[in-house]
Amino acid sequence: MAYNDVYGSWKADPERFWMQAAEAIDWVAKPSRALFADNAPLYEWFVDGQVNTCWNAVDRHVEAGHGDRVAIIHDSPVTHTRHEITYAELQARVASLAGALRAKGIGKGDRVIIYMPMVPEALEAMLACARLGAIHSVVFGGFAAHELAVRIDDAQPRAIIAASCGIEPGRVVHYKPLLDAAIEQAAHKPDFCVIFQREQEVAQLIEGRDHDWHAFQYGVAPADCVAVEGNHPAYILYTSGTTGQPKGVVRPTAGHLVALHWTMRAIYDVGPGDVFWAASDVGWVVGHSYICYAPLIAGCTTIVFEGKPVGTPDAGTFWRVIAEHKVRSFFTAPTAFRAIKREDPEGKLVRDYDLSSLRALYLAGERADPDTVKWAEAQLGVPVIDHWWQTETGWAIAANPLGIEKLPVKIGSPSVPMPGYDVQVLDEGGHPVAPGTLGAIAVKLPLPPGTLPGLWNAEARFRKSYLEHFPGYYETGDAGYIDEDGYLYIMARTDDVINVAGHRLSTGGMEEVLANHPDVAECAVIGVADALKGQLPLGLLCLNKGSNRPHEEVVKDCVRLVREQIGPVAAFKLAVVVDRLPKTRSGKILRGTMVKIADGEAFKMPATIDDPAILDEIAAALKTLGYPAAAG
Ligand code: COA
Ligand code: AMP
Repeated sequence: MAYNDVYGSWKADPERFWMQAAEAIDWVAKPSRALFADNAPLYEWFVDGQVNTCWNAVDRHVEAGHGDRVAIIHDSPVTHTRHEITYAELQARVASLAGALRAKGIGKGDRVIIYMPMVPEALEAMLACARLGAIHSVVFGGFAAHELAVRIDDAQPRAIIAASCGIEPGRVVHYKPLLDAAIEQAAHKPDFCVIFQREQEVAQLIEGRDHDWHAFQYGVAPADCVAVEGNHPAYILYTSGTTGQPKGVVRPTAGHLVALHWTMRAIYDVGPGDVFWAASDVGWVVGHSYICYAPLIAGCTTIVFEGKPVGTPDAGTFWRVIAEHKVRSFFTAPTAFRAIKREDPEGKLVRDYDLSSLRALYLAGERADPDTVKWAEAQLGVPVIDHWWQTETGWAIAANPLGIEKLPVKIGSPSVPMPGYDVQVLDEGGHPVAPGTLGAIAVKLPLPPGTLPGLWNAEARFRKSYLEHFPGYYETGDAGYIDEDGYLYIMARTDDVINVAGHRLSTGGMEEVLANHPDVAECAVIGVADALKGQLPLGLLCLNKGSNRPHEEVVKDCVRLVREQIGPVAAFKLAVVVDRLPKTRSGKILRGTMVKIADGEAFKMPATIDDPAILDEIAAALKTLGYPAAAG
């Protein structure tokens, strides 16, 4: 079947399309129907089905006689180790961990925070929660204690599962002290913690609260899978919004299973026994969907890679992993390719490896710039597929569905909408615009299975953030256009979210941290273009009248504060003191205009600007930081 037929068959009868897709899932009780629209515009899928995620990702493959197949390969250049876990081993390990959690009182609906690096135990912890119907919330290791504390207070976990440490090139990340500090800061306290001790750094356990990962599993009975309702939350994943308070995206169990399974063949063109690799981190949505759940649900082998595209040990690492493990489909962020291209522009290291297993490269997480796409195509000789999605959707809104039909690639476009997504570009008044015209990208409701039904304990925020601006639509927060052939182009965010090395960050959250500095009266954080990371945050600081601290000291403090409060992943290293910030007459800071100045782009003087002379002052200040940067 061709893409048009598949998309058309969904459009003609969505109910039939998704009920058919649901047949690939093992149900304890089959759902009577797909869509539940009783609370529109809040929609749910497969609500009256009974199902378990861990059964579908692990046990059913063992039951079907594939227990010897490798489920997970841990490839860790930072610890110089590699090992494999079969489906049968994974089942035993997860059932044991779930049994130990259950013995400590964890059951259906309890929240469990997971704070772990790229080790298979992170996936095992996720699956153990899923086995019990407990709701996990994985927190990325590059966030600081404060961010972890905010998530603890929001999710109110009964337990936290953490590793003793993570390993970044050149330094050990001390997870345990970060965890202890976060629990100290949070108002909510978990009943207990489980610590996976790594040999690179063994952490001190707090008597009565902390349990050793191995010891606490001793002698417990393994747990069976607990069936849950289709709309039971599988997990909560926090993502950046416009403020420092992250949004807790809820993932519903049944829709997640059905949609992810469908994507593996249709989009990634893989099936049982194929090796699939997403080089991301379990802390992000790509890690949830495509390191952990989807490959396992589809019976593939997934790779947990603990390293970086460069420096572990060199820019050939990705090629080594693909060659050694015979990866068929590979998924990463464009920034990783930019990092490799910078170190090995001629792709000399590519030639050292046999990459004949590789069928396609998938890019997402940020805009795939044409230079990077062309370079990757030339080096690897396989289709380079840009696809567009968000934490909120959990799977691709737009892609080139290789498993259905390879559509012509248009560089700069993530191609066409996937079944389930009726994507439209709207003007400010909510009316669809003509092809080629820029506007807000929205998806006609309902969103398909697997996408967020809401935010954790924040229905009003969910409605306000996504549903109210364009009634009848989901507002993506991205702006762009659709061309005459129906291809989508994603151009920019419409809010204060920036994308740094494929990581979604809130400039509003950074401003909240800077505003707490005693010398800072007012500030703005903008995202400026960066050749490696796509964007970098840059702070403009106005100091209090009485402040006589040297500016360099205040800047240094501010850089330290963001690192301490948000974490190293914010990559906040650029800040400058200015006298005034440009504003409209109604007092709105003109961030967009400052971005244009920093990026060296032409801009129209905003008609409502209070005092145009301030822009010259801003340009002079940005120049001291080297912006606009030299081309390239
Ligand atoms: N735990 C602790 N710290 C982490 C971390 C983690 N899991 N991940 C990143 N950090 C730290 C880094 O060590 C770095 O700290 P530093 O300021 O002390 O150097 C900081 O956070 C910024 O990290 P990053 O943005 O990753 O920059 P980098 O310079 O270390 O590496 C790239 C640059 C391009 C190689 C890297 O960003 C990369 O591999 N990106 C791929 C992105 C990706 O997979 N995104 C997921 C969405 S698909
Ligand atoms: P996240 O929720 O972290 O996955 O970030 C989602 C955001 O990243 C989207 O709203 C886009 O702004 C951006 N993004 C993700 N994939 C793409 C892509 N293929 N092209 C352009 N932007 C993308």
